[in-house]
Amino acid sequence: MSHKIQTLSGYIHEYQKSVLQPEEFWGRVAESFHWKKPWSKVLDWDFEGPDIKWFVNGKLNITENILDRHLFIMGDRPAIIWEPNEPGEEHITLTYKELYEKVCQFSNAMKAQGVGKGDRVIIYMPMVPEAAIAMLACARIGAVHSVVFAGFSASSLADRINDCDAKMVLTSDGNFRGTKKIGVKSVVDEALESCSSVEKVIVLKRTGQDVAMVSNRDLWWSDVIKGQSTECPAEEMDAEDMLFILYTSGSTGKPKGVVHTCGGYMIYTYYSFVNVFQYQTGDIYWCTADVGWITGHSYIVYGPLLAGATTLMFEGVPTYPHAGRFWEIVDKHKVNQFYTAPTAIRALEAYGLEPIEPYSLETLKVIGSVGEPINEEAWHWYHDHIGKGNCPLVDTWWQTETGGIMISALAGITPNKPAHASLPLPGIQPIIVDADGNELTGNNVQGNLCIKFPWPSIIRTTYGDHDRCKQTYFSTYKGLYFTGDGAKRDHDGYLRILGRVDDVINVSGHRMGTAEVENAINEHPKVIESAVVGFPHDVKGQGIYAFAICDMEGRTVENLSNEIIQTVSKIIGPIAKPDKVQIVPGLPKTRSGKIMRRILRKIAAGEMDQLGDTSTLLNPEVVEAIIEGSKK
Ligand code: WTA
Repeated sequence: MSHKIQTLSGYIHEYQKSVLQPEEFWGRVAESFHWKKPWSKVLDWDFEGPDIKWFVNGKLNITENILDRHLFIMGDRPAIIWEPNEPGEEHITLTYKELYEKVCQFSNAMKAQGVGKGDRVIIYMPMVPEAAIAMLACARIGAVHSVVFAGFSASSLADRINDCDAKMVLTSDGNFRGTKKIGVKSVVDEALESCSSVEKVIVLKRTGQDVAMVSNRDLWWSDVIKGQSTECPAEEMDAEDMLFILYTSGSTGKPKGVVHTCGGYMIYTYYSFVNVFQYQTGDIYWCTADVGWITGHSYIVYGPLLAGATTLMFEGVPTYPHAGRFWEIVDKHKVNQFYTAPTAIRALEAYGLEPIEPYSLETLKVIGSVGEPINEEAWHWYHDHIGKGNCPLVDTWWQTETGGIMISALAGITPNKPAHASLPLPGIQPIIVDADGNELTGNNVQGNLCIKFPWPSIIRTTYGDHDRCKQTYFSTYKGLYFTGDGAKRDHDGYLRILGRVDDVINVSGHRMGTAEVENAINEHPKVIESAVVGFPHDVKGQGIYAFAICDMEGRTVENLSNEIIQTVSKIIGPIAKPDKVQIVPGLPKTRSGKIMRRILRKIAAGEMDQLGDTSTLLNPEVVEAIIEGSKK
């Protein structure tokens, strides 16, 4: 089955077809998959609801398309190559047949522990093959997985478990990260003190560290699979049944559970994977994301495996045991497509060229970037020193909510332009609008990025709160999906993403809601009020800058700042730690009492000359004091 675009004119042709006859276009892609029952209509949609259905009444199981379908002709081909944290430990290769057996076996084990279709299962695991096996086993039996990044704190984990009423948690004893051995099960134990829905916890032994096992609740992975058959029938799923929930931060309140469904997600992750990366049979593909993020879902697990690809999973960190580890792995496993984040590139760039020198990187054909805008400097470094000037660099723009890559070059097919995501994939209809929602046509325009027509892997709802989905994505501009990003169409017609226009900060490619961080800071008993903004950061893209009004009694600025940072780490997780905390006498407010973040953002960026008019503030005098304080 091939829907791979081969030429620039092929792209133009396919793109036009996808816009003029979207149902015929996607119907044709979907036909090459295995369906238990065909769909009656390709698409039913209304952005008002929103109510979006792809492949209406079609029945399928995504794992039949990943596993069963590939057994006959390529059962012996590697599906997953796993590279451990420690270079001295053996890597593991699972063929499609082995993956099939392991997924079936674990599916049976989960069923035996009382999990069935529609039940929610939390996966809180390190980057080990069992994390992918767990996801696929859920999909096989129709359980809905929600992977939580294993760096999140117990309280973040508990929020997610409670929000989706999970029945089971899959986890490990610990996690190897560089020189560290981090407790994982212990975090689950702490989370479960405030969760009542979880009946069973299955624990994979990875680090061998001591863990407490609660009787009648906690079971070892190796015990539950014992005696289970390596065949398991695939549950019949409706195309619109939930496949997974993935929590992501927004500009307000707690993270929301983005819901993706079986049929559309399957078609789009496959289609975008083969086209963007131009994957060819036999290639070794490596995405360095964590399975806890959408990139890990769509482009480590689902997209590549649907395409019958070999996907590499890496347990460790880019700088352990040395800053050339990524490149060592590329050479060791002869990686052909390499997909990472700008923050990793910038961090490695700081080590200079020496760590790259021992490696040839000659197998690389395509390199990719995801998660945040890639600045031109990092783009050129990546392109010249990793791609050696002859690998197309795909700058892929997309979101948890879009399920798959939306705007990107197709490697070697459509042109590359530094720092530009460039052109939409077939089926994707982006538009740029002004503040009132008027479409800005033509080139050389800048505004907010919206999408005007559904694509198969568009968000269907936010779990348990459909109105939140409507308000967040479909209400800002009538009849459009609003991305929350600003964008520019340049003089050549290429799209450049300018970053978030809402109160979301993108830290090392991870989304943090300012409100979420403020809520965590406010938990500290000495904090009276706080405001959080992003500021430019050389490695992380954006850093977190917190301004807090505090009761200083019994504290110094230094120890209180540290306590605030620790509070955030405890409540959300280390990834949300503020880079800077400034204790302030007040926060700039409008007369209606709203915090003027625009001013705080300028101060955080050191752009004191661009504060604009502050005279209309309720408390203009506070601005001077904050500026003074920021210089310390
Ligand atoms: C940002 C990650 C510029 C953007 C797949 C988006 C990007 C948010 C790019 C989604 C890119 C992602 N260029 N910005 N190539 N890719 N973003 O949900 O602001 O973790 O809205 O999904 O990351 O982050 P999320």
